[in-house]
Amino acid sequence: MEWTKEQRYRTLKEAGGDEMAELKARVDSCPWRQMFHIQPGTGLLNDPNGFSYYNGEYHLFYQWFPLGPVHGLKYWYHMKSKDLVHWDDAGVGLEPNDYYDSHGAYSGSAIEHEGKLHLLYTGNTRDENWVRHPYQCLAVMDEKGNISKLDKAVISSVPAGYTDHFRDPKVWKEGDTFYAVIGAQRTDETGCIVLYSSPDLLDWTFEGEIGTNLNPFGYMWECPDYFELQNHGVLIFSPQGLAPVGDKYQNIYQSGYIIGETLNVQQKTLKHGDFIELDRGFDFYAPQTMVDPNGRRILVGWMGLPEIEYPTDRNGWAHCLTLPRELSIRNGKLIQQPVAELQALRGPETKAEDTIRNESKTYDGFTGTAYEMVCEFTNIDAAEFGIEFRVSEQEKTVLTYDAAAKKVILDRTLSGEEVGADYGTIRKCEMDAAKVKFHLFVDVSSVEIFINDGEEVFTSRIFPQEDSDGIRFFASGGSAAFQAVKWNLRQNPEEGQRYDCNEMAMLGK
Ligand code: FRU
Repeated sequence: MEWTKEQRYRTLKEAGGDEMAELKARVDSCPWRQMFHIQPGTGLLNDPNGFSYYNGEYHLFYQWFPLGPVHGLKYWYHMKSKDLVHWDDAGVGLEPNDYYDSHGAYSGSAIEHEGKLHLLYTGNTRDENWVRHPYQCLAVMDEKGNISKLDKAVISSVPAGYTDHFRDPKVWKEGDTFYAVIGAQRTDETGCIVLYSSPDLLDWTFEGEIGTNLNPFGYMWECPDYFELQNHGVLIFSPQGLAPVGDKYQNIYQSGYIIGETLNVQQKTLKHGDFIELDRGFDFYAPQTMVDPNGRRILVGWMGLPEIEYPTDRNGWAHCLTLPRELSIRNGKLIQQPVAELQALRGPETKAEDTIRNESKTYDGFTGTAYEMVCEFTNIDAAEFGIEFRVSEQEKTVLTYDAAAKKVILDRTLSGEEVGADYGTIRKCEMDAAKVKFHLFVDVSSVEIFINDGEEVFTSRIFPQEDSDGIRFFASGGSAAFQAVKWNLRQNPEEGQRYDCNEMAMLGK
């Protein structure tokens, strides 16, 4: 269905109960609803926002258009958790109903200040000629979880030299000063990041642009995130407008980071290395990080991309968030590992161990549509080896290590219903290693693959039939030994939960 502007910019209240009930029924009948990922009750989810730890709980909001699988009037939807695994539905977080966010409560971040969680975000507005005007806005959440928005925006204009593509503040504190990075587009239509400072989160001073040597590098940088880790400065952002280079930048938009010396906020220049993509799969964008009380730096991304149709659109919903990943730095690269708490999802365990040679083999108990699996390959003289999963006669998703090319390859050509095929159905990345460890989290319509303890990650949606549940191990052009462990999801329905994030919203919470 084609969505008109009028339909996209309606509020939840304007939609009414019948429309939402019909939509919810369509969503619930979708065969691709996830088991252990945060997904919208109805409509479209995009960026993670306000990821934080406050008052004894993790808080994670997401960009949400409730009324259908399109980008329309965005809300913040609020989830909270004690363990990063089991998430409670906390209802709508921010409603776009003020002069400064009339056309969407866009992305932003959270920080605790004076005992309250402060949410700094972009208010998107359009005038009668549909010209965009962004505001940076503040809302405050108290210990009871009540969120109140300020009467006025805290940054009301875009500095000279930048266009109205100016959004997604990520805030942090250094000494007594708050800083925020904002994603921007220069008037010459190149992307960059600017820095603001504030003593109190209310009065903000434009400090200027963060100098990098990526000039130019795409036409817009979205969702910046600056943090320090192991004495390095890390700047994550999502640049738009990069052309593919070899195996890199294959998706419609990218998401990655530069690492260097810590940011000198006076000079605002970052001495840094190459831009590195965070994820080598098909569906990953706009990640956000937070630091938890144990000092861990944790990242969550949007498992989706703008401007691509997904098969769940037919059922009135789209996208989910990734699992939380713990970050560290090794050899100038970010290493991403699933947070240890995710082991709570593990139910009954199955193991297999074998040496395979020019064959493809199955093993008892190695089937499923939602599970975690770790497989380590050693003693490799095969030219290629790997795992096929979500297999049936017609379908398979193939994860290969090509030992000659020294590349990991994810192939979703036969994964089921097509998605984003204009951007190809194969993703590859270099990996030079004598041992290869694949750590997979397979959910009903996605896979996250951590390679060699988080050196690379491939995150992808897949849309196979429900009965495509086979798993095969293969080696060609020689042999490889492997050890595999697979965990089914814990059976307790509370554990392998299906999220229903819309019920409370419909009650107007
Ligand atoms: C990234 C993004 C952000 C914006 C938000 C709107 O996906 O375009 O730049 O704030 O989504 O939903």
